[in-house]
Amino acid sequence: MRDEPLVLGIETSCDETGVGIVRGVTLLADSIASSVEEHARFGGVVPEVASRAHLDAMVPMIRRACETAGVALTDVDAIAVTAGPGLAGALLVGVAAAKALSFSLGIPLYGVNHLAAHVAVDQLQHGRLPEPVMALLVSGGHSSLLLVPDVTGDIRPLGATVDDAAGEAFDKVARVLGLPFPGGPHIDRVSGEGRIAIEFPRGLTSGRDMQEHRFDFSFSGLKTAVARWVEAREMAGEPVPVADVAASFQEAVVDVLTRKALLACAEHGVDHLVLGGGVAANSRLRAMAQERCDAAGVLLRVPRPALCTDNGAMVAALGSEMVVRGRSPGSLGLPADSSMPVTDVSAREGAR
Ligand code: KG4
Ligand code: ZN
Repeated sequence: MRDEPLVLGIETSCDETGVGIVRGVTLLADSIASSVEEHARFGGVVPEVASRAHLDAMVPMIRRACETAGVALTDVDAIAVTAGPGLAGALLVGVAAAKALSFSLGIPLYGVNHLAAHVAVDQLQHGRLPEPVMALLVSGGHSSLLLVPDVTGDIRPLGATVDDAAGEAFDKVARVLGLPFPGGPHIDRVSGEGRIAIEFPRGLTSGRDMQEHRFDFSFSGLKTAVARWVEAREMAGEPVPVADVAASFQEAVVDVLTRKALLACAEHGVDHLVLGGGVAANSRLRAMAQERCDAAGVLLRVPRPALCTDNGAMVAALGSEMVVRGRSPGSLGLPADSSMPVTDVSAREGAR
């Protein structure tokens, strides 16, 4: 056990300042500060506000994580940090902090991909990932279907959203329904009281669209359909059945996500599916994914909600796996890369 690396991970790609500490696949600490409330009145994350909040929260989160884990910084074997993708200014705060720690402690630095970290985090709850595993990552910033033969070095994107991310669609539809930001948890909650009564469109699931975008997603047409439906009710002076609209919208999103994820498993002969990202906290997504996986003989792995949303432990989990597998660390010159491709698990030196 002691031979396993003690890794500190830093996540600052969006509005969460996360610092996690793991030993091997054991989670020791996961400290999070969120600036989500500072963005709420703008209805979306404001990059400059997020960057400043990361600056304020970084040192307190590092301290708190060390206290919770019962370790000193000098015990840490390696530092991992989200190098991208994400908001440029926000990423820079984490990358600069990670470089300072790596330099002052004289330990290796791993600049890692945020999406790969969303996959790797499952190891902290369910043990080592099977290889290959299929991953469905759905959050406010991304919706991706990934075939993952090796989370530390071989990630193959099968599809992604062509417009809004799944979480973004939840947030925008919540706004139309007068629910607060971020809207996903509110839609999830009110849907529990609603009926799936309205047939909203399932983007890119039939005909030529499906042929050309087999594993891609599109949620902007759905969002517009919901907005039009609500507008029509309002124009007619009729009350909007918020819970029914929310439940019907949620059903459309979850149906498409799970349908395509299971199709990808079948076509690629993969029998394990892992979910990640903030939308993986959605109760209907978890239930439908479980039903469809059971029916298809696929084993579903869903980390608990706190590990699905952005956090530092996921970055530490990926860093730890990279140390264990002998992957090369980065240099102090490694970049923060706001549009880092998912195929790059580690930051490419010289990229910007
Ligand atoms: O992974 P995350 O914390 O941050 C990034 O966007 O990277 O995901 C946040 C997103 C938001 O869009 C939020 O509305 C959505 O996840 N979300 C949910 C639920 N909880 C969070 N969406 C649907 N149902 C939920 N229960
Ligand atoms: Zn994320």
